[in-house]
Amino acid sequence: MISIRNLTKYYRTEEVETTALHNVTFDVKPGEFVSIMGPSGCGKSTLLNVLGLLDTAEEGSFTFNEKELLHLGEKDKSAFRKAHIGFVFQSFNLIDELTVYENVELPLIYAGVGAQERKERVNNMLERMNLSKRSAHFPQQLSGGQQQRVAVGRALINKPALILADEPTGNLDSTNGNEVMDILCELNEQGTTIIMVTHSAHDASFSSRVVYMKDGMIVTEKLQKEKAAELI
Ligand SMILES: Nc1ncnc2c1ncn2[C@@H]1O[C@H](COP(=O)(O)OP(=O)(O)O)[C@@H](O)[C@H]1O
Ligand SMILES: [Mg+2]
Repeated sequence: MISIRNLTKYYRTEEVETTALHNVTFDVKPGEFVSIMGPSGCGKSTLLNVLGLLDTAEEGSFTFNEKELLHLGEKDKSAFRKAHIGFVFQSFNLIDELTVYENVELPLIYAGVGAQERKERVNNMLERMNLSKRSAHFPQQLSGGQQQRVAVGRALINKPALILADEPTGNLDSTNGNEVMDILCELNEQGTTIIMVTHSAHDASFSSRVVYMKDGMIVTEKLQKEKAAELI
């Protein structure tokens, strides 16, 4: 599904040049649940942002279902992202002025889905995320776990093949964090491919493979046999 070859990315500021990704080669098969771990600053978010077409890299290649994406123009990238990728961030990134319902509905409006279908899909998603009663609430009126469930609902509403999650439980206590992990596991069981950055060994234990990064490079990978066997 995803194939990354010799990906290198630099950040340049006036004073310094940082090699955020160094010669990264990485494949993800459909249906996998991959965790990315490693110390702060090692390039995890950069890699996820490149995978999500939110950022680009200078060298190497990145194909998604055999289509080269690295050199697409902004407009094509944005269209590809909306069609195939859902993003979940550590800080939820909900729109505070919109209700729960409206936050989840927004990607459907951007995608040009009609009013009746939007209503059905949003209500189904809120039910699935156990948020039906919170539909008219604003993000600030919700617990962190509820907010992250809204964010997951928004990420899923366009039925993406790939979910990218950057420390999705990083701002949550363990109860709320576990709720979010339950949803991600359920999604993965239903076939959605997930790539998740995490600092939590517990969260990583739910994935089929753990990739460890250091200094912009992938240093080791560990297949979690029991989980991986389910893919075969
Ligand atoms: N926008 C940016 N401008 C300059 N340097 C950046 C930027 N974003 C990240 N970096 C640098 O790139 C490296 C990797 O960062 P990041 O991918 O955020 O790491 P992680 O998510 O693993 O903590 C770090 O050295 C960081 O300081
Ligand atoms: Mg990060």
